[in-house]
Amino acid sequence: MSNPSLLILPGDGIGPEVMTEVRKIIDWFGARRGLKFDVSEDLVGGAAYDKHGVPLADETMAKAQEVDAVLLGAVGGPKYDDLDFSVKPERGLLRLRKEMDLYSNLRPAQCFDALADFSSLKKDVVAGLDIMIVRELTSGVYFGEPRGIFEEGNERVGINTQRYTESEIERVARSAFELAMRRNKKLCSMEKANVMESGILWREVVTRVGKDYPEVELSHMYADNGAMQLVRAPKQFDVILTDNLFGDILSDCAAMLTGSLGMLPSASLGAPMANGRPKALYEPVHGSAPDIAGQGKANPIACILSFAMALRYSFDQGAEADRLEAAIEKVLADGVRTADLLAEEGVQPVSTSEMGDAIVAALDASL
Ligand code: NAI
Ligand code: MG
Repeated sequence: MSNPSLLILPGDGIGPEVMTEVRKIIDWFGARRGLKFDVSEDLVGGAAYDKHGVPLADETMAKAQEVDAVLLGAVGGPKYDDLDFSVKPERGLLRLRKEMDLYSNLRPAQCFDALADFSSLKKDVVAGLDIMIVRELTSGVYFGEPRGIFEEGNERVGINTQRYTESEIERVARSAFELAMRRNKKLCSMEKANVMESGILWREVVTRVGKDYPEVELSHMYADNGAMQLVRAPKQFDVILTDNLFGDILSDCAAMLTGSLGMLPSASLGAPMANGRPKALYEPVHGSAPDIAGQGKANPIACILSFAMALRYSFDQGAEADRLEAAIEKVLADGVRTADLLAEEGVQPVSTSEMGDAIVAALDASL
């Protein structure tokens, strides 16, 4: 059997810097755990525009469709701000998401004990937090028709349409239930069925899909109450399923319960491939951070945690993903901090590559 395949797209700004550290981790799993990947690397975003005049070349797109998983750094930067909309770096990422049809966006909110003080919430509200928000990513109000700004009488009207088909709800619901089965068998679906017909349909379809997962404890909550509960008592949740718009807001809110943008991974999953695993793109939540790019200051943990998600969801290596997350937990517990994680004065931050090396050392110590 051939090795599982991984396409790496470092992109722009701090993307290549954090990806260098991920490469160290990938090499470690190959050398010390016998986990070999067929790794290829290509360009996306501004880097692809500089070489090909487009933010994602057709060959790169084709390659992304073939591999078991794609791992992306970040795209964009001031150098590209004045480009035409059609070739902006972000369009490369959007093309990947669209053509791979990645409808299920997984955003964890996980609190590493060593960083619990970093949260804006009380320590005991967030310590030990480990929840996952599943956001529908390819439909809903960001895509529904009609949309636009129209003349109506003597004023203008701005229109967007929340639109969900049963099959769109069903596939993302299935993805969330599958996830719940692998976690703690608890799923809360959020919509506003009290005021939106799309929410009524959402609740109905999710309930129906739930019949196929009798072991999963399913609950429903109005999304506004969900927002309140997330900041009041986030540990009551395990998997949260919601639509594109509510998911955009709730996932950002949940993520900030736990601290720095430099710590946040994500996965975007699509339909199952021939091998039964979903099409998948893994990426940190942060952007290309032009303000710190090239200075060795970037925190590589968000990108490394994105690779841990790939281990878990694309390569069936949950135990090795746990090992990697435990190594990160240990490094943080030892007080190793990149500049973005510094709460107190007087502590010296480590560089991007020192953080990567510390995590590799912690992996060594785990054997
Ligand atoms: P950003 O996420 O790049 O940066 C926001 C702030 O967080 C900055 O102060 C940055 O230094 C800091 N930061 C981000 N990641 C960090 C890390 N790993 N370690 C330490 N500090 C970190 O968002 P911003 O500034 O709004 O956008 C910058 C560029 O990135 C823009 O061109 C934007 O379009 C692009 N972008 C790309 C995304 C992607 O590739 N998925 C997502 C968001 C923005
Ligand atoms: Mg957002």
